[in-house]
Amino acid sequence: MTDSRHMARYWDERARENAEYFVDNRLDYKSGAYGGDDGDDFWSKGEKDFDVLLETLDAPALGSDDTVLDIGCGVGRLSRAAAARVGRVHALDVSAEMLTRAKKNLADVPNVSFHLGDGDSLGAIGDDQIDVVVSLVVFQHIPDPEITYGYVREIGRVLKPGGWAAFQVSNDAEIHQREYPTPSLLQRVAGRLRGTMPKGQDDPAWRGSAVDLDRLRQAAADGGASIERLEGAGTQYCLVLLRAGA
Ligand SMILES: C[S@@+](CC[C@H](N)C(=O)[O-])C[C@H]1O[C@@H](n2cnc3c(N)ncnc32)[C@H](O)[C@@H]1O
Repeated sequence: MTDSRHMARYWDERARENAEYFVDNRLDYKSGAYGGDDGDDFWSKGEKDFDVLLETLDAPALGSDDTVLDIGCGVGRLSRAAAARVGRVHALDVSAEMLTRAKKNLADVPNVSFHLGDGDSLGAIGDDQIDVVVSLVVFQHIPDPEITYGYVREIGRVLKPGGWAAFQVSNDAEIHQREYPTPSLLQRVAGRLRGTMPKGQDDPAWRGSAVDLDRLRQAAADGGASIERLEGAGTQYCLVLLRAGA
């Protein structure tokens, strides 16, 4: 099992290497730009990704007094989008380096609190404190699905009765086995040395793992919650709407 210190160290290194790319690898590694001509920048893409998560799951409306927890907040992309719509956002990440960047990026957003997580629990957050939990492109990177099940139980613990969570997991085991990226070993080494290609993509903390949906349902039940909706079962972008017991 990959331990939490490894995940923290891995994501700290990626944050120092090129934080925005490792948060959203649709960006070009070198130029930091998106392809295409939709005019989106990093933050507007984050806003759109947040909307797609909620709309795909037909999630309940966010309330202006709601307290939201963003698990694996990275540099604050989704936390910024959420903070504009709710009362308070708790932004949690295993990487201190990511959090440093998130704090800087969101210095103009007063209703966000930042928490350095331990990599496998929501220990910083008390029971029944949260109206809404969100998480995107985080659990797919966790090397051991047991950690993800643990987080799902924790989500049940921190949610207020009737609160809900919208998050993404991978449900495609094969994608985590694949050689990634595809260039030859020589090209990869040369690219990394030249600084034109990302490092660390063979690491378990990048490759991640898929969850089993029955185990995910059981984890939700163990946390006093239930899975109300699943979209994208069998894919890397499996979206989950969870509801805490009333
Ligand atoms: C690809 S980034 C996505 C960031 C953010 N969710 C977004 O969509 O902008 C993945 C983030 O998850 C964090 N992360 C990875 N493993 C984690 C874990 N076990 N617990 C909490 N955060 C974790 C990383 O430090 C990184 O900031």
